[in-house]
Amino acid sequence: MRNGTLQGAYLIVAARALGLDCGPMSGFDNAGVDKAFFSGTRIQSNFICSIGYGDPASVFPRNPRLSFEEASRWPNHEVDRTRSDPRKMVEIL
Ligand SMILES: Cc1cc2nc3c(=O)[nH]c(=O)nc-3n(C[C@H](O)[C@H](O)[C@H](O)COP(=O)(O)O)c2cc1C
Repeated sequence: MRNGTLQGAYLIVAARALGLDCGPMSGFDNAGVDKAFFSGTRIQSNFICSIGYGDPASVFPRNPRLSFEEASRWPNHEVDRTRSDPRKMVEIL
């Protein structure tokens, strides 16, 4: 379960990095999904996730996030901006 959740999170991060919208949900009929998709296997659903381009008129706004400055404070440490763009990662997450 733990590994599956982590892999799902990676999928969400990758999809959002490509500009897609993601809607993860755990409040669904697990047994119904398992029966429809995984009948006769040992696979069980963990969460489901819609992926696509949401209509800006109807999607909820993102929940509040820490700013990059708030999230990246570390005494006496400077982020090496030549290696990646951490601001982009904060936006995605
Ligand atoms: C694994 C997982 C399961 C979730 N299940 C539900 C759910 O069942 N119902 C719900 O309203 N939100 C659920 N959420 C939260 C929303 O899908 C969404 O991530 C949250 O509202 C934050 O939105 P934002 O990332 O756009 O700010 C779940 C999130 C995750 C990561």
